[in-house]
Amino acid sequence: MTRRAMVRGVGHYLPERVVPNAWFEDKIDTSDAWIKSRSGIERRHFAAEGETTSQMAAKACRAALAMAGLAPDDVDAIIVATSTADLTFPSAATMVQAELGMTRGFAFDVQAVCAGFVFALSQANALILSGQAERALVIGAETFSRIMDWEDRGTCVLFGDGAGALLLEDTEAVGTNDDRGILTTDLHSDGRHRDILYVDGGVSTQTTGVLRMQGKEVFRHAVEKLAATAHASLEKLGLNGDDVDWMVPHQANLRIIKSTAQKMGLPMDRVIVTVQDHGNTSAASIPLALSTGVANGQIKQGDLIVTEAIGGGLAWGSVVLRW
Ligand code: UT7
Repeated sequence: MTRRAMVRGVGHYLPERVVPNAWFEDKIDTSDAWIKSRSGIERRHFAAEGETTSQMAAKACRAALAMAGLAPDDVDAIIVATSTADLTFPSAATMVQAELGMTRGFAFDVQAVCAGFVFALSQANALILSGQAERALVIGAETFSRIMDWEDRGTCVLFGDGAGALLLEDTEAVGTNDDRGILTTDLHSDGRHRDILYVDGGVSTQTTGVLRMQGKEVFRHAVEKLAATAHASLEKLGLNGDDVDWMVPHQANLRIIKSTAQKMGLPMDRVIVTVQDHGNTSAASIPLALSTGVANGQIKQGDLIVTEAIGGGLAWGSVVLRW
């Protein structure tokens, strides 16, 4: 007998405002055709004025709690993966805790940029398996529209806002790959590559800064490292691409997603793709894709899922779980 962190609920929130590619055409030198063909993105959501990361995160949590039939005080830990918290401190997670009316447990943020949700899942798994929490809300939530350089056509057309949440619960299991819950995780970072994707401001510089990216360089690392980490996770379990029901990748670029799927030997009908509707929502993209996949009836109980992401740092990793 062993224990697993099993998914009990999932939910998401997207801001009301949908911005199609055409919106950019009279603002910068770009086109719907370029954005679609180079990234797969067709539209994205932008948060309303005054709408914050923690507010969106709390809405996603309420949906996940409702699916699980649980109340906020049934939860022991809240982890928010974000690079766009409302304030420098306190954490977005404690704001979510207060917003949910939760008066117990503990809450903190994880910052691994676009890989943040994979890192947060891994931390929640460790908390549950070490007995520090029985139930954890793991959230990816971002307002990347607030850190765009609206004159940089190479970045501002790519990102969007939103939030997704999973509710994980400590569950008794057999100790085989047939168990439901998180089966393994694989995390990496390499700070030597910090200059290819970063925000050029922060607390010490007394500015918020805007996102800077060498797209081609990041692309090159992504196609190599995402398949490698997904393979490594599956290998730890003695599994390979054939065993996977769904790949749920970070949604940055359809070409990266297709290339990773091909390297995994997975046809695209076993890949959850939401990049066309959400753009790149950084740490929110995986829980948004999981929640969308469940809502669409694609992901079902018992499915084996591999999820992977890469982002600023560079930081990257993967998680294999059975839904
Ligand atoms: O989530 C974190 C991880 N992030 C990623 O995974 C992003 C990885 N990178 C990418 O997705 C792609 O590199 C981009 C979508 C950002 C760019 O695609 P690309 O095929 O690598 O294009 P590029 O940057 O090499 O640019 C090709 C051309 C350039 O023009 P020249 O120099 O060939 O004349 C760019 O100036 O396209 C131009 N360009 C644009 N044209 C129209 C760049 N952005 C735009 C734009 N509209 N928005």
